[in-house]
Amino acid sequence: MSLAPVVTIDGPVGSGKGTIATRLAQRLGWHFLDSGALYRLVALRALSLGLDLSHEPALRELALTLDCRFDFNGEDTIVWLENEDVSRALRREETSAAASRVASIAAVREALVARQRAFQQPPGLVADGRDMGTVIFPAAPLKLFLTASAQARAERRYKQLKGKGESVNLPRLLRDLQARDERDSSRAVAPLRPATGAKIIDSTEMTVDQVLEEAYLLVEKNILNN
Ligand code: C5P
Repeated sequence: MSLAPVVTIDGPVGSGKGTIATRLAQRLGWHFLDSGALYRLVALRALSLGLDLSHEPALRELALTLDCRFDFNGEDTIVWLENEDVSRALRREETSAAASRVASIAAVREALVARQRAFQQPPGLVADGRDMGTVIFPAAPLKLFLTASAQARAERRYKQLKGKGESVNLPRLLRDLQARDERDSSRAVAPLRPATGAKIIDSTEMTVDQVLEEAYLLVEKNILNN
């Protein structure tokens, strides 16, 4: 059985990978996996249940039984958790911080592996996350690692949250982002790092369209024309 091709896009928060991955998937007409949303869903559910974020068996169980659905409405992805639209709640800073904590638990990560691999369906998949190329789809024919300076990433996130009407503070955002980077890169399981053979794109000085073009050309060269 030949599996559908996968493009993995990993990188730190604010590197623009979510936007690039969504638009690349749209342009290719492929499926899209927002793996961060799965960790956010586990975190959100844990917070709403008042679970202790260090209670590994309970979090693992929650990850295994998560009742969620992703609907693309042509513009945005609506995320449903037990038939409730949690798209906005998922992006809150409180959820982000909790997601980064639950994501450092090996049992939670393992519990989400099969769910993530199930997204690999024809005609293809663009997978966005931290360990898409290193752990979940190590055989992907194209692996991208998107990055940008911490300052540039904090500014992007600031604009994004502000645009959504959230009250945000840039210095605090930069501090939180650096703390999250540190935790994601130094954790024992699936630390954030470029996969072997990954193409690294530094978007500090690039527009979204330029990054998208570069990513698309790489897909053409490495997958479509092969
Ligand atoms: O990408 P996003 O910011 O939505 O991810 C939320 C959190 O989930 C990240 O801070 C990271 O800790 C974790 N994550 C992960 N592995 C992934 C995707 C996200 O550890 N593949």
